[in-house]
Amino acid sequence: MLRGVSDVAATSFVTLYCHAIESRSDNPVLSDPKSVEITTQLNKTLSLSGHPLDRALVSGTLDKRLVVHIAIRAKKYDDYARDFLQRFPDGVVVNIGCGLDSRFLRIDDGRVVYYDLDLPEIIEIKKAFFNETERYHLLASSVLDFDWMVPVLRHKGPFLFMAEGVFMYLDGKDVQSLVLKIQEKFPGSELVCEVVNSVWLRYPLKKLLDYKIQRQVHLGKDATFRSGIHDGREMEQWHTGIQFLDEWSYFDSEEEKLGWFKVLSHIELIRKTQWTVHYRLN
Ligand SMILES: C[S@@+](CC[C@H](N)C(=O)[O-])C[C@H]1O[C@@H](n2cnc3c(N)ncnc32)[C@H](O)[C@@H]1O
Repeated sequence: MLRGVSDVAATSFVTLYCHAIESRSDNPVLSDPKSVEITTQLNKTLSLSGHPLDRALVSGTLDKRLVVHIAIRAKKYDDYARDFLQRFPDGVVVNIGCGLDSRFLRIDDGRVVYYDLDLPEIIEIKKAFFNETERYHLLASSVLDFDWMVPVLRHKGPFLFMAEGVFMYLDGKDVQSLVLKIQEKFPGSELVCEVVNSVWLRYPLKKLLDYKIQRQVHLGKDATFRSGIHDGREMEQWHTGIQFLDEWSYFDSEEEKLGWFKVLSHIELIRKTQWTVHYRLN
């Protein structure tokens, strides 16, 4: 792995390579040429490493189901952003824990103002591949250091906050403070976030999840799920202004590449191991 990249930040390499592998495949679920460009460059460094994750990334041997799931998720989040911008053409999108994703390029309608926010170590890498413009901004900060909100607050909005594959790596109390802070500072905004079912955070299911993350994907031990909710409406209990709008699971996708796995979709615990919830924050 690249020097100075923490276990949690390294998860962004996995999603980036999933995008690139899927983009190169037949009938790709997601077309993300920028991920192909970035991985081609990163391969030059990562191919010199003996780390098992780097070897899996460079050789394109990531788990096939993981690749398809991550691509389906990215496509769905693109659709959430496009839908928001159709409803609010003056909208501002903030991608929390953006990793090396290039959603801005995929959804740019020539008008959107877009913020990509991630830890400084990831934004430093991202700066080598993306130029900031009047409408595209990079924020190098922990999402838990609320100063990142200052430049975003200069816009009128309305605002869409997206957190794709991020909140589960934060402590539950931090997710709650963050959501309440966004609600306080950006009333009327929307939040689309992926959550993990808290049932999976209890022993022995948590052991199984850690095994998948650390052994199968070769991520370090700090890349572990720390928080979750049991039901999409749970966040409504945090504040009367939080309004559940809708939710989505990978299994709702009609994508043929999900294959036989789709037969598990009526097992609620599997359908909602990890799913996405959409809220209005009033
Ligand atoms: C699984 S990756 C997802 C990246 C991207 N959203 C995607 O789907 O391709 C998780 C990302 O969350 C970021 N992250 C984790 N904790 C964070 C924090 N406290 N502040 C900002 N970003 C954070 C990591 O650095 C990493 O880029």
